[in-house]
Amino acid sequence: MNDLEKKQRTIIEPFKIKMIEPLPFTSKEERKQILENAGFNLFLIPANKVTFDFLTDSGTTAMSASQWGAMLTADESYAGSTSFYKFEKKVKELTGYSYVIPTHQGRAAERLLFSILVKSDSKIPSNNHFDTTRANIEHASGEAIDLVIAEGKNPSVFHPFKGNIDLEKLENFCKENHQFIPFGMLTITNNTGGGQPVALENIRGASKIFKRYDVPFILDACRFAENSYFIKLREKAYENYSARDIAKEIFSCADGCLVSAKKDALGNIGGFIALRDGKWVDQIRNLLILTEGFPTYGGLAARDLEALTVGLDEVLDENYLSYRLAVCRYMAEGLNKLGIPTVQPPGGHAVYIDAKSFLSHIPPENFPGQALVCELYIEEGIRCCEIGSVMFGKQSGAKFHPSAMELVRLAIPRRVYTQSHFDYILEGISNIVARKNKIRGLKIIYEPPYLKHFTAKFSVV
Ligand code: F0G
Repeated sequence: MNDLEKKQRTIIEPFKIKMIEPLPFTSKEERKQILENAGFNLFLIPANKVTFDFLTDSGTTAMSASQWGAMLTADESYAGSTSFYKFEKKVKELTGYSYVIPTHQGRAAERLLFSILVKSDSKIPSNNHFDTTRANIEHASGEAIDLVIAEGKNPSVFHPFKGNIDLEKLENFCKENHQFIPFGMLTITNNTGGGQPVALENIRGASKIFKRYDVPFILDACRFAENSYFIKLREKAYENYSARDIAKEIFSCADGCLVSAKKDALGNIGGFIALRDGKWVDQIRNLLILTEGFPTYGGLAARDLEALTVGLDEVLDENYLSYRLAVCRYMAEGLNKLGIPTVQPPGGHAVYIDAKSFLSHIPPENFPGQALVCELYIEEGIRCCEIGSVMFGKQSGAKFHPSAMELVRLAIPRRVYTQSHFDYILEGISNIVARKNKIRGLKIIYEPPYLKHFTAKFSVV
């Protein structure tokens, strides 16, 4: 960790607040009842019963006055909207890719690309696929392969770039399977593995391997700005580069990207596919017209495209990025001081609690992560999500295959909460530490066929 990362104690939010939203407060008794009614699944709780919402950093950004201002200037024409051309220019400028296809969010971009490229024998390597990416690959009957470095699977090991892909494994995988790989991916930052960055050297290494085997390289780049700033802080060769130049370098290594614009494009909705080469573009656009809308709006209102165009610039402001990474670090350090282990080092958009180690008395099949998620809600109305065996565990017959890690993710919405909120939260969490041995596990009483964490229901064991 370099000095810049260690130095900051008081977090300076690099903005003034000109619009506010009251925090909803509830009593502990109310929260217990609400939780039970929701089958112990926090996705099923109304937001107005949540005091601090850390469910996701996706689409939860507080937009700036410039973004709201730009929205008023939107051109809502069905075809050829001026707002689209502004958006297209901004994405081209940032990525260097020639073809820009807006979509309503990241998973729509995934579905469009994968519908065209993924076949029943396809294998798609990445560091870690995010859950919707994996689900969309599997839905197109392909196989999603995770090749993150060993350190990336161990929550307590320190590594500056735990999102790196294992280049040796990738080389071997491509050597053996290249005819079945329609494209390779890297997720920046690596959300599933803890919001961990990928080094530029590693991105370049992956790019060379993919080129050698003639495999197109597609970035899942929704947190590209946070990843770029980590590179500036942690990769010596780039310490004098701007976050913007690093982002451009990253995109230059790949053939295209899928982006959920609900993260680092600072939007409340949106996404895009950007590609260097036009060979898949007609097919994608035809499919887009079938299910999303005309190619110059892709299922979005033009005002959303306006907000994203401004957001893609604002996110690369280094005062913002420095504050953004400081927030996660502050929260992680606060939790560690209370004796709660977190993935080390903290990632860019979220703090990941290692629930397997914190609640070691609860076995994976009783979901220690989900049990902690419920406790955080009961204690102070915090909503967050499990990334563990609820999300990735598989039951085959009598045997339960748990997830490699049992994490609880407190995803931090961009520009929404202040340092005093985090201090207040940490005070409350210390009560959970005091009663942790009394916390009980859960069992699933209902689960859907896909993405079960969104709608599964539980009971206490
Ligand atoms: N890729 C990554 C790495 C993501 O984190 C997400 C979404 C997506 C793709 C899909 O984008 O939601 O716009 O369809 N992650 C959110 C989260 C949901 O909470 O981490 P989307």
